[in-house]
Amino acid sequence: MANDIAPYSGPSIPGSPSRRGHWTGRFGFILAAVGSAVGLGNIWKFPYITGVYGGGAFVLVYLGCVVLVGLPLMISELMIGRRAQLNPVGAFQKLHYQGSPWQMTGWLGVASGFVILSFYSVVGGWAIAYIFKSMVGFTGTAGEIQSQFGDLVGSTIASVGWHTIFMALTIGIVLGGIKNGIERWAKILMPALLFILIGLMVHGLFNTDGGSQAVAFLFNPDWSKLTADGILSALGHAFFTLSLGMGAMITYGSYMRRDAKIGRDAVTISILDTVIALLAGLAIFSLVFSYGLEAGAGPGLIFETLPVLFADAGRLISVPFFFLLTFAALSSSISLLEVVVSYFVDQRGWGRTKATWVQGFLMYLVGITCATWGSVFDTFDYFSTNFMLPVGGLLTCLFVAWVVKNSVRIEEFGSSGLLYKALIFVLRYVTPIAVLITLLHGLELLPFMSYEE
Ligand code: PFF
Repeated sequence: MANDIAPYSGPSIPGSPSRRGHWTGRFGFILAAVGSAVGLGNIWKFPYITGVYGGGAFVLVYLGCVVLVGLPLMISELMIGRRAQLNPVGAFQKLHYQGSPWQMTGWLGVASGFVILSFYSVVGGWAIAYIFKSMVGFTGTAGEIQSQFGDLVGSTIASVGWHTIFMALTIGIVLGGIKNGIERWAKILMPALLFILIGLMVHGLFNTDGGSQAVAFLFNPDWSKLTADGILSALGHAFFTLSLGMGAMITYGSYMRRDAKIGRDAVTISILDTVIALLAGLAIFSLVFSYGLEAGAGPGLIFETLPVLFADAGRLISVPFFFLLTFAALSSSISLLEVVVSYFVDQRGWGRTKATWVQGFLMYLVGITCATWGSVFDTFDYFSTNFMLPVGGLLTCLFVAWVVKNSVRIEEFGSSGLLYKALIFVLRYVTPIAVLITLLHGLELLPFMSYEE
């Protein structure tokens, strides 16, 4: 069988496939993977979709999606990556055969990295811009403060300028490689992020009078507010927030050591990602409620609604908040660039420095179109989240469930017991159906839903 390849043994042996960089240990890998997972999706998107779909009931459904779709897929991606010790394209080839059609899944992943980073970096740039805006302080009427965001988005020079800074930071970190770039920075950015987040949450819960309302909103399910649309958005979000469906976890998995336990690590990453999203929700909603505002503000929650509160809450809250957002975005953007870089390094034989500069620059150029034209930004965002990631995830899960040999899967998972059997059952019958439904919904093709405006 073509996929009957032996696992590599041990970390860096010059001249073997394991010459590629590896994480220094479990802690480094977990921080880097949590860094990839925790991003704009957690701080910007999770609170606003939770707000729109009514709180607690949405959160419960989302948790179900993480367990039934997110976790099995993350385990699958890590297994593929660690087994092959290659980028997504090379990994599908190595686990099947050279020229196998499954390599298209890897290609789709590399393309998704390109598309997502080009708009992600624009939002990352706005986050940096808001660090400076909050240092200066938000002043004026609510309308004036909110319109600052429209002014930033509407100014090509400003948007491109901030995007340039964000991309330069991303490229700078990836240039350092796995240990000295991605892992080292994850070890700085993630603890800083957690520290700020806990500080903001404690402030929100105990220092404002919106704390108890925020807890009730997030944890008391009101099922009447949950629509079918909400359920499917929870599924789509589980994908995006865990960085699944585009080979990021395949790539990060390829730098894992043999002794790491994939199931345990995937559970840790998923729990940390979810807890961080909930902490962000608590921090944000307690502020929002303490000012008597509505939770369902939509996408403008962070850059339009919150600055109005910050004008009163002060710099001590707003400056750390936008640092938090920037750190989250940066630790995710490096994983997006790394997917593309690893492809050029493994498959095309480029050096890391050349691959990072050339591909990073190309992504930067595409990002300029997103910073300039809102329609390009929206199309990239919509297309990648609703089409590329679900298709990539669906193919990855089918590949692991039906194509990869049982013996290979058992070796990578580390056991063949009940948990393994449950995993394979879910991967075969539950995850693909759930993803297919999300995909059809994202493309507005579900027959029983109404998609009229
Ligand atoms: N997980 C990131 C977030 O929640 O913002 C987004 C993301 C990063 C998606 C990396 C995909 C990826 F490969």
